[in-house]
Amino acid sequence: MNKFFSKILWEMHSLVYDFKVGSRVHRDLQDDIINVLDIKKAHKLLDAGIGTGALESALLRKDVKDLSVLGVDLSEKMLNKAEEKLANEFREFKLLRLDLNNSLPFTGNYFDRIASSNTFYILHNKLDFLKEAYRVLKPQGKIVLSTPHEKFKGTEIMKYHYKKANKFSHYVSALVETIVALVLVLPFELLITIAEKSGQYEHLGGESLQKLFKEAGFDSHEITLAFADQNWLITATK
Ligand SMILES: C[S@@+](CC[C@H](N)C(=O)[O-])C[C@H]1O[C@@H](n2cnc3c(N)ncnc32)[C@H](O)[C@@H]1O
Repeated sequence: MNKFFSKILWEMHSLVYDFKVGSRVHRDLQDDIINVLDIKKAHKLLDAGIGTGALESALLRKDVKDLSVLGVDLSEKMLNKAEEKLANEFREFKLLRLDLNNSLPFTGNYFDRIASSNTFYILHNKLDFLKEAYRVLKPQGKIVLSTPHEKFKGTEIMKYHYKKANKFSHYVSALVETIVALVLVLPFELLITIAEKSGQYEHLGGESLQKLFKEAGFDSHEITLAFADQNWLITATK
């Protein structure tokens, strides 16, 4: 799958993407990211690969609104969905279409926080992206990135809903999520898997990921598992 098909894939995926990110495992991931992101009043947040704005919807659910959000993404349709849901919800909310494989069009030392969820594995200039993230972060600024690890299993994501269920209503919603995933999301998951198998999308081991962060200039970082233990959750400070 080449760059062109990757772009089409995400444009098409935007049509059903909110069904996917509304599921419990995604919400738990968003909560994990928010917990370590530690947003303070008037912070400037860059969401690198904002998609339909799932992280920002989670911030709103927690009533965290007093910040300036800049969401960037390659997909126009993803950005349109984010705009529909989130315009006017924060102190400032802006969206910009750009390719994260290229240099970022921002001055250095600008953002307090950078979040990037489930997007890093798609990028082919991973080190350059991290160097750019380092450049645009303020001193003491923080990046929180979550990306699938090298042994990622999609089936574990589905199982998570059943493992976490402890009431009849949870089992019902887990079943509904399974059916929705099979009907609406599975074709896109298969295309993503093809991109992974062909090496276009890359799931990194923890050591490789940490090495990239160090090379980009981040001296200290913390790494844990998230997303049904199928993703790395890495937090680094400039
Ligand atoms: C799996 S989604 C994650 C979206 C969001 N962060 C979330 O967690 O719901 C990946 C996002 O990366 C975007 N994307 C893919 N390639 C990109 C690139 N080269 N530059 C910027 N965004 C890209 C896609 O359009 C899509 O919105």
